[in-house]
Amino acid sequence: MKILFIGDIVGRAGRGILKDAFRYLNLRSKYDFIIANAENAAGGFGITNKVLDELLQLQIDCFTMGNHTFDKKEAEQVLLNDRVIRPANLPPGVVGAGYGIFNSRSGKVAVVNLLGRIFMQPVDCPFRSFDSLYNLMKRESNVIIVDFHAEATSEKNALGYYLDGRASAVIGTHTHVPTDDCKILPNKTAYVTDVGMTGSSAGIIGFKKDSIIQKFLTCIPKKFEVDFEEPQLQAVAVEIDEATGMARSIERVFYPGKNCCEKES
Ligand code: FE2
Repeated sequence: MKILFIGDIVGRAGRGILKDAFRYLNLRSKYDFIIANAENAAGGFGITNKVLDELLQLQIDCFTMGNHTFDKKEAEQVLLNDRVIRPANLPPGVVGAGYGIFNSRSGKVAVVNLLGRIFMQPVDCPFRSFDSLYNLMKRESNVIIVDFHAEATSEKNALGYYLDGRASAVIGTHTHVPTDDCKILPNKTAYVTDVGMTGSSAGIIGFKKDSIIQKFLTCIPKKFEVDFEEPQLQAVAVEIDEATGMARSIERVFYPGKNCCEKES
């Protein structure tokens, strides 16, 4: 089974380059299952119904989220769509599903989204949250993909090894900076600390440089605006033996695009 995992889509620049990549790289025909992190898809923060509709036209199979899941007031409605999952380690009773079982061209796929706890808002333990869901997912599918949305590389490394042999792939998201450590762990789990992002590679993590630099210089909160220069798609392709759920390979996928100067909405 060939799976493509697309890094955090940041605003209109990210959505634009994503559409180009689907067209020019013929992504839909190359992969059995496509996952994208969409927590920054609407103006850099959260997701709206309109943006979800736009992304659904690309026939992406599953959208994962993160710490910005609830930034837009429509989030609760968006989470009713069964292709969208939110982090599983939020308190009980929160709207939406923390994992999903999906159909692909090569059989079923379980996807679970987890939030890290280091340098982030407090949430339940991601390690134990996976443990509590593992049997439920394994009953349905041998292929289990984890989006670990976290800041600290150490926490991501640790979850990778903790899930080695149980998850098919542990893919890090959130930092928007791709790491050069795609590997297959000893018990055949594919791993990368951070897949990167789909958005402007000229700004600071997808946003215009000036407001972020000013925030660091003054310690005064600033409104961050999505950047449009040099958009790029950053993703990883994972090949999995669907009979066992174990990974065969993981490699990077990049798609650089032209400048896009449209105004963000
Ligand atoms: Fe995030």
